[in-house]
Amino acid sequence: MMAEASRRQSWSASSYDAHARFVSDLADGVLDWLAAQARERILDLGCGDGVLTAELAALGAKVVGVDSSEDFVEACQARGLDVRLMDGEALTFENEFDAVFSNAALHWMTRPERVISRVRQALRPEGRFVAEFGGHGNVAAIMTALEATAVRHGVDSSLAHPSFFPTVEIYQAMLEEQGFEVKRIALIPRPTLLKTGMAAWLKLFRKPFFDQFGASADQVLRETEDLLRFALCDAHGNWTADYVRLRVEAKKS
Ligand code: BEZ
Repeated sequence: MMAEASRRQSWSASSYDAHARFVSDLADGVLDWLAAQARERILDLGCGDGVLTAELAALGAKVVGVDSSEDFVEACQARGLDVRLMDGEALTFENEFDAVFSNAALHWMTRPERVISRVRQALRPEGRFVAEFGGHGNVAAIMTALEATAVRHGVDSSLAHPSFFPTVEIYQAMLEEQGFEVKRIALIPRPTLLKTGMAAWLKLFRKPFFDQFGASADQVLRETEDLLRFALCDAHGNWTADYVRLRVEAKKS
């Protein structure tokens, strides 16, 4: 089933490659928890530009990727991956995967109960769900600066933080309520150097927020960057994003 148009994500695979390659580069921890085996059937939920999907396929797993961004799906298909345009809240798979894997995607899906329910449906009995995404406190300084910018300019602040960053307790309870056994779960602070700077991060990850300023978008972006300088920029001009990840492994029971 195609994603509902209103919930589609719009990403540029080339901008993502230039400014957010660290997202897949930092996935070793969650890949270790997944411990993919050759011939396993794995669903890569929110596969983005498919770098990790390809890594799993190279291990011999039979991987299907899904993403709700057309640009990402096209980029994946161009490299020969089995990737489909699908919303994580409307997965159509049933009892067919040994594992559902997800890196840096679940925080974009703001109806997590639906996602968990569809993930459960996609897994075979005893199948595992291994994921990493933004947890409680993720990009807190950045969200606060965006909120302050919205207040200063009297605009819609909801575009600043359309994200789901749960605590361990909240996410564990959601999983257990839907019949998962949580094997391990942790909140992991991960300050991350932004090699191409904060303005590039803001432009890529919070584009709808800045778009609402029209011709003043660049000036407002600089104001937001100034608010963040004290917390996230060092004396040499290096920017760090205040990432916190929630990593989980749960079994369909
Ligand atoms: C994240 O990967 O944690 C993230 C990305 C964009 C906005 C917020 C969080």
